Amino acid sequence: MARAKSDSGAGTEATELSEAEIAVHWKEEEYFPPPASFAAQANLKDPKVMDRFALTKFPECYREFGEMLTWDQPWTTTFDGSNAPFYKWFVGGKLNASVNCLDRHLAQYRNKAAFIFVAENEEEPSVPITYQELWVRVNEMAALLRDEARLKTGDRVTIHLPMTPELPITMLACARLGIVHSVVFGGFSGESAGRRAADSGSRVLVTMDGYYRNGKFTDHKPGADAAVAIAKAEGQTVDTVLVWQRHPGKYLSQAKLVDGRDKVVNELLPKYRRKTVEPVSMPAEAPLFLMYTSGTTGRPKGCQHATGGYLAYVTATSKWIQDIHPTDVYWCMADIGWITGHSYIVYGPLALAATSVLYEGIPTFPDPGRPWRIAERLGVNIFHTSPTAIRQLRKLGPEEPTKYDLKFKTMTTVGEPIEPEAWRWYFTKVGKGKAAITDTWWQTETGGFLCTTKPGLDRMKPGSAGPPMPGIHPKILDENGHEVPVGSNKAGNIVIQSPWPGLMSTIWGDAERYKKTYFQKYNTKPASHDWRDWPYFAGDGALLAPDGYYRILGRIDDVINVAGHRLGTKELESACLTVPEIAEAAVVPVTDEVKGRVPEVYVSLKPGFTASPEIEKKVAHAIETEIGKIARPKVVRIVPDMPKTRSGKIMRRVLASISNTMDVGDVTTLSNPDVVEQIRVLVQGKAKVVTKTAPEDIKKFGQAE
Ligand code: WTA
Repeated sequence: MARAKSDSGAGTEATELSEAEIAVHWKEEEYFPPPASFAAQANLKDPKVMDRFALTKFPECYREFGEMLTWDQPWTTTFDGSNAPFYKWFVGGKLNASVNCLDRHLAQYRNKAAFIFVAENEEEPSVPITYQELWVRVNEMAALLRDEARLKTGDRVTIHLPMTPELPITMLACARLGIVHSVVFGGFSGESAGRRAADSGSRVLVTMDGYYRNGKFTDHKPGADAAVAIAKAEGQTVDTVLVWQRHPGKYLSQAKLVDGRDKVVNELLPKYRRKTVEPVSMPAEAPLFLMYTSGTTGRPKGCQHATGGYLAYVTATSKWIQDIHPTDVYWCMADIGWITGHSYIVYGPLALAATSVLYEGIPTFPDPGRPWRIAERLGVNIFHTSPTAIRQLRKLGPEEPTKYDLKFKTMTTVGEPIEPEAWRWYFTKVGKGKAAITDTWWQTETGGFLCTTKPGLDRMKPGSAGPPMPGIHPKILDENGHEVPVGSNKAGNIVIQSPWPGLMSTIWGDAERYKKTYFQKYNTKPASHDWRDWPYFAGDGALLAPDGYYRILGRIDDVINVAGHRLGTKELESACLTVPEIAEAAVVPVTDEVKGRVPEVYVSLKPGFTASPEIEKKVAHAIETEIGKIARPKVVRIVPDMPKTRSGKIMRRVLASISNTMDVGDVTTLSNPDVVEQIRVLVQGKAKVVTKTAPEDIKKFGQAE
């Protein structure tokens, strides 16, 4: 049985370990000390920093983070936990996020590049945008949002833009007016954007005609039309669509502009030339933005982040962990449409007056040497990416980094566990053995890093995120709320004992769901308003080693982490059900060499239909249009029936076992045990495939059912 086998230790399979198996039978990896040259210049050098942030120092220890910002009005209460688990930070304080990212740097850094935009087309020269110019463009856009789209403080705006400067410009213009932005990843479909617009109550959508991806011009504006239609069907009227042009002056989309609704930003901007907008002084707890993320139920959750707490937290973590100094050139390859981009391309780096590279395209275009050429040319010395990008660059161009003069002082990975092998390649080939690597574990909900080594202080250990951030106090609990002993080599649920300023304030429009999803599990006193009774439940499995390093195993809920991005299985399944022939759908994760996990789809047909490749294609297509290409399934399998419990619930765990060639375990209690073998033969062929062990998150997949 897969479970028993995984518990039996590494010894039995020592001869041929796959990376997936390493994830389960984890052997202790060797340590790498932080490079001395790095430590000497690090922002965070105090070896006593953990004492300064001990639990006994909560919450006043966080004053230090708040003090990194410029306030219009100082706060009176550092932390208000009186309505736990709904927290307020820096209460009484007022500030504006765009002022902290722009205005406050003008005196000293006016002439320094805030962003250097690199188009995907390598022939196009890179475009530096100074702090002065970014400030001007943000002001003009803010005036336009106010006057053309009639937006005011507190309104929500859905932004569906690619990785071009127009995206952070629009975000900061919103922040200047106290408008809550909700950025939807550009690669998500218009339908996704529309559902998020409806949930957030946005009457304005900001989009672009198109952009470049993998060498092709992608027509993006049709997505806006789909978004408006979906939002309308869900009861939300989007009355204004603001369309940026990828090449100012040219409108390159095939989609028509809708009279009275669509406005081309680049045509309107001349009217706003030299307009400045007084920044709105926002209460610290006012929402700065929403970022939707997938959870266990179909509807994505709008994680609401507060202006003061969030900004303080991303500024502090950017300073201490990313080690950003104003003299650095920093490049995070994530997309701004994810939380990593919000925190560590836009808000954190700009708050520290960094020069940040903004790259439009995919890392492997036109070849896997591209990131290294960009880094060499722009003198990037801080680099930030994901394990999936590392795996892909390593696979396609293992020796590419050695051809370039790379001088990274520190490099980050984020989004999913990184295999020690991939880590070592990153360290030796990309970092030339001279960069401090941080493996940062955190979530959309947490605003910024939770576990990571402190790059100038801690030893690195491949595969482990490391100790918690100063001020973060995790625990590993079993299902009954008992602490899993340190060094027991047993995984459990990672929780955070005390709040921190970067923690989201709530789920937009659904406070109950916030409480239920993140705090209910280990709360024993529902009436309590003491934060000590409400540990934050992250939904990840993790292991604590005797050295105090945390190793994250992955999600424990029905969320597939594809290439570092969370996709809700229920969302994918409902997309399948939009195909008329489909009766039932179940989506499970399978391990993938590059992406870590990819979804595999099982569907059964309504009576009267027969399986065909056309139906499979329709299902894949439905997922792409409803969610986006990122969710494209590895394969769609049409099965005679789904394995079900007696109460009729689909057993995804059984399907996940079949897809990952694991033993399915005991299925005799199912209502239709025979179908399991039929499906197994369909997927694996007649012969029984050798049982492998799968990563913890796949083994647990769907187990709650
Ligand atoms: C996973 C991305 C292992 C984890 C910032 C988490 C990681 C989910 C790491 C959040 C890491 C993120 N090691 N796993 N360094 N970083 N994860 O909300 O499962 O898109 O719960 O935020 O990614 O994904 P999200």
